[in-house]
Amino acid sequence: MKVVESRLELQRLSDEERARGQRIALVPTMGALHAGHLSLVDAGRKRADQVWVSIFVNPTQFNEANDFEGYPRELERDLDACRQAGVDIVYAPGVDDVYPQDAQTWVDVETLTLPLCGASRPGHFRGVTTVVAKLFLAAKPHVAVFGQKDFQQLAVIRQMTRDMGFDVEIVGGAIVREPDGVALSSRNVRLGPEARRQAVALVQALDAVEAAAASGERDSGALLALARTHIESAPQARVDYIELRDPDSLETAPETLAAATLLALAVNFTPDPSGEGADVRLIDNRLLSFDRSRATEHHPSGDSQ
Ligand code: PAJ
Repeated sequence: MKVVESRLELQRLSDEERARGQRIALVPTMGALHAGHLSLVDAGRKRADQVWVSIFVNPTQFNEANDFEGYPRELERDLDACRQAGVDIVYAPGVDDVYPQDAQTWVDVETLTLPLCGASRPGHFRGVTTVVAKLFLAAKPHVAVFGQKDFQQLAVIRQMTRDMGFDVEIVGGAIVREPDGVALSSRNVRLGPEARRQAVALVQALDAVEAAAASGERDSGALLALARTHIESAPQARVDYIELRDPDSLETAPETLAAATLLALAVNFTPDPSGEGADVRLIDNRLLSFDRSRATEHHPSGDSQ
């Protein structure tokens, strides 16, 4: 496995591998790798000859300095995980390799970034799309794999890829969960043991709404109230948003649901019962399908643009 720190070196390697007829899959990450990230590596391998992983804690997508500074950084452990997963190249640049001094250029998707996480984290998605565009230009992949855990991010990246004309196939990977159902996240390690136990409220809310929808509940107000009851049962949880949205446009779902609908949650947890420490923000989602009276997670595989 090669570890590359320079964008120019990565571009050169991409040109070489492409000239040899190799298909490249890129998995962009911010490190602190877990089984969710590694499932994307597997998805990439199914669609390409080589899997490349980028590890870069992207400063422009953090709205809070605390969150950026406190973000877990464990490069050596991540490199071991990549080696074991059979990754071919890791691109782990420094900030200067990605953002030249006094950079002024952004890639910004206008409408899809307004609701949900975009509303609570202004500028976040502009940082994501800018860095992902740069990663596409550096690695020149044929395929790039992103998790459905960050449903809005995946939608925004698809839009950006289409709008900018990047010749990259975007693939979405299913949400990987802990045995108790909590979605794997690099931020889970920042929860104290009590908050970690309470974090199960998110997936319980998703399960309860999915079950209610499956047994015929179509009223969005009733489904949202049900989700809220579950989240509010966790004493250290504070709801950021609980929303039902159209999975493509991300517009607010109608009062009476008839077609596939995204249930999206964002919850802030106080890491410690005493209220000490910075909040930890967790997100999760489920695609509810109403047409066949059952609900599934969004296209677990083969979900390409
Ligand atoms: P990061 O949070 O490190 O996530 C990297 C990828 O892993 C994302 O596509 C995310 O959706 C996916 N992922 C995270 N948890 C997952 C889980 N439990 N199951 C499946 N996939 C999961 O998302 C980012 O980094 C950044 O915004 C990035 C796209 C790298 C741009 O900086």
